[in-house]
Amino acid sequence: MAEAALGLTEAEVAEIRAQFPALSQEIHGRPLVYLDNGATVHKPQAVIDALVGFYSRDNSNVHRGVHTLSQRATTAYEAARSTVARFIGAGSDDEIVFTRGTSEGINLVAYAWGKTNLKPGDRVVVTGMEHHSNIVPWQLICASTGAELVHLPFDERGVLEPAAIADRINAQTKMVAFVHVSNALGTVNPVEALVARAREVGAKVLIDGAQAIPHMPVDVAALGCDFYTFSGHKVYGPTGIGVLWGKPELLAAMPPWHGGGDMIESVSFEGSTFAAPPARFEAGTPNIAGAIALAAALDWVGAIGLDRVAAYEADLVAHGMAVLDGIDGVRSIGTAPGKAGLLSFVIEGVHAHDAGMLLDEQGIAVRVGHHCAEPAMKAFGVSATIRASLAVYNTRAELTQLGEALKKVIRLFG
Ligand code: ALA
Repeated sequence: MAEAALGLTEAEVAEIRAQFPALSQEIHGRPLVYLDNGATVHKPQAVIDALVGFYSRDNSNVHRGVHTLSQRATTAYEAARSTVARFIGAGSDDEIVFTRGTSEGINLVAYAWGKTNLKPGDRVVVTGMEHHSNIVPWQLICASTGAELVHLPFDERGVLEPAAIADRINAQTKMVAFVHVSNALGTVNPVEALVARAREVGAKVLIDGAQAIPHMPVDVAALGCDFYTFSGHKVYGPTGIGVLWGKPELLAAMPPWHGGGDMIESVSFEGSTFAAPPARFEAGTPNIAGAIALAAALDWVGAIGLDRVAAYEADLVAHGMAVLDGIDGVRSIGTAPGKAGLLSFVIEGVHAHDAGMLLDEQGIAVRVGHHCAEPAMKAFGVSATIRASLAVYNTRAELTQLGEALKKVIRLFG
């Protein structure tokens, strides 16, 4: 691919699009405009080939066989772990736990870390814009440990209030768990300020990176957090595979949370001992093909360069915001400066679900609803928004088309 300072040229984006078989289809007789990438992105041929290649040639279980196929599968699975480690700047492959996705990564920490580190009087602090996946696991573990769940409010743009960061992250706080990029608002949260405040009070930090990982470079060492978790399917990989990165000393001190094969050192009826991380947290046959295809996805997007993806998508967001601002009756929900990856909005007098169905009739896929972030919706006084979420293959022309389709929706319903 040709060098460019930042961003991507039209020709490069056309070349990228051509690698996605799903994007060339028609929906209701119109070329598909896929703007539901926050829910899941389409997969490039390289990822599809990795899945097919594994099942066509190397399919076997890992860490269990002396035969050639099992060795091939194990080598490829562990190589995938190394690829993930390099991609996010981990210090070692052993810091990478494969999970089913971001939700499982958060649940793992909530249970395995929370069970041994939280007690009555302690605080877990999240933000008011969390996905339910970063609220409910903490509610459950707080209910069983007696700790308290506290949230940080945000302003009318969807920006966290600095005073609340200072006040609510207090000496009782043991964990600050927050979304890197909000899936409902697009806000990029102030990692540095949150980590700094957590450190002042001696709290650990978990970052939900589900909506950040496809849109910007992520380096866990530079972020300074303790845990970072994301899903493969948001970053051009398959569903059912995700990653939890954790500091080695924290992972080593955490008890298992699922029991089964591969996570043990030895088992007897008198008692069992457990493997070191990451195996301790990977009970049962893992998603081997998924991990291998995730590595292919990270190699694929890494070859483009996340800094260039970020610059290109920032231009798309700016164009999309200008399109929406130009339509009477459309109100953006989430206007944080530097927001990433998506446009969330309501149309006065039009139900989001009706708008979503009419957009689908025009070949445009968006997500409508509360986006699994009901508290964030409530803070804005809405029950649902229309969300156009972006990937590297989207274009300005598609967002212009979205604008024209929205005008049609307003003519019909408004
Ligand atoms: N968390 C995904 C979304 O935001 C499913 O759509």
